[in-house]
Amino acid sequence: MALPKVAVVVGSLRKESINKKLALAIAKLAAGKLDLKLVDLSDLPLFNQDLEADYPAAAQRVKAEIAGADAVLFVTPEHNRSIPAALKNVIDWVSRPYGTSKWAGKPGAIVGTSGGAVGTAVAQEHLRSILVAQGVALLGRPEVYFVYKDGVFDAEHTVTDPAAKKILDGFVDAFAGWVAKLTHTH
Ligand code: FNR
Repeated sequence: MALPKVAVVVGSLRKESINKKLALAIAKLAAGKLDLKLVDLSDLPLFNQDLEADYPAAAQRVKAEIAGADAVLFVTPEHNRSIPAALKNVIDWVSRPYGTSKWAGKPGAIVGTSGGAVGTAVAQEHLRSILVAQGVALLGRPEVYFVYKDGVFDAEHTVTDPAAKKILDGFVDAFAGWVAKLTHTH
């Protein structure tokens, strides 16, 4: 049977994003369980309700990728104790025009990393309340507040730290179980 398709929304646009690295490491750990694919947000314009009538091509593509996925994984940085604007932007685009949101009922999970001691915990809480209101069926636990350290992933996206690998393996297994339960593919 085909693996469940997971759209991965990384809330950072920068090339060397540690959240992108975390996403790629999780994708590698999930091989054989979930088929994770990063959604490209680099050309998404800033949301403007005036553009809804002539919905931009980049937003159409992103919306279609979310619609076509069996589940969504949100990988969030923490910016000023909340989610980055890039992440809120994609959430807003995919929720509009009114009545056409592709978030409702979608199985989802949240993870994120920063170098700070609380490892995106505050941003994740904000994101959770936004996504619950959108009807995303969020995995409750394990919560993973990943404190980033240089060298925790190698250049091939392998998790080199055994303790980190154990935490991320547990997260992947819980998410795969959650997606299977909600999509009845097991
Ligand atoms: C940050 N950073 C940060 N880190 C944190 O743990 N809590 C915070 O509130 C903030 N606030 C914040 C605001 C802004 C505007 C920036 C640019 C950065 C640091 C942040 O965790 C760090 O830049 C990460 O590398 C961002 O993730 P990506 O972009 O590497 O995935």
